[in-house]
Amino acid sequence: MPAPEIYNFLAQRQSASILVEPKPDRSTVEKILQVGGTVPDHGGLKPYRFVVVEGEGREKFAESMVNAAMEAKGTLDDKKKAKLKSKAYASPLQVVIVFSPEEDDKIPEWEQMASASCTGYAVVLAANALGFGAVWKSFGFEPGSLMQQTFQLKKNERILGWVNIGTEMDRERSSRTPLDLKKFAFFLS
Ligand SMILES: Cc1cc2nc3c(=O)[nH]c(=O)nc-3n(C[C@H](O)[C@H](O)[C@H](O)COP(=O)(O)O)c2cc1C
Repeated sequence: MPAPEIYNFLAQRQSASILVEPKPDRSTVEKILQVGGTVPDHGGLKPYRFVVVEGEGREKFAESMVNAAMEAKGTLDDKKKAKLKSKAYASPLQVVIVFSPEEDDKIPEWEQMASASCTGYAVVLAANALGFGAVWKSFGFEPGSLMQQTFQLKKNERILGWVNIGTEMDRERSSRTPLDLKKFAFFLS
């Protein structure tokens, strides 16, 4: 791809709102995850891992979200349960981003978290580059016991949300408002 096209692809990227079948097949998902593994990573610690949720896995994901909310709140009405569960069905496939830090004398945990966070964006970009829509989502609760079990979370690991991936329904896109660089950037010269 010529450089200006790559620039436009990056500058005009937008998250998807409605994602449906078809989802990427296994080899396409693997390509997407490979790009996840290219993020800047001090010391090459790879302080992340991915869980791909699809098919019936979505029900397990849905149940684990409800369980986390129940454990946090004590109780949850049916409407809220249904709303939480629907998050797992918002796309045919999700890539859950797990932050998995290493004990390291030189690389502090915050750097590892920064690196792991980059993987979410890399997964979004790779999905877009391969023709799929994507959006990074989260659910606002600490993982409960079922989520820890379902995603085999170690004590030091945490979920940084997930990327919904699928075929984007056609929609009118307005172009992005450029970033107000006077407000968000500072040139030290
Ligand atoms: C860690 C993380 C979690 C997010 N969780 C949600 C979410 O639960 N719901 C939501 O609408 N957007 C969420 N977002 C924001 C969307 O991914 C997206 O960036 C936003 O809708 C703006 O769209 P854009 O990417 O096209 O600018 C999250 C972003 C990040 C980085």
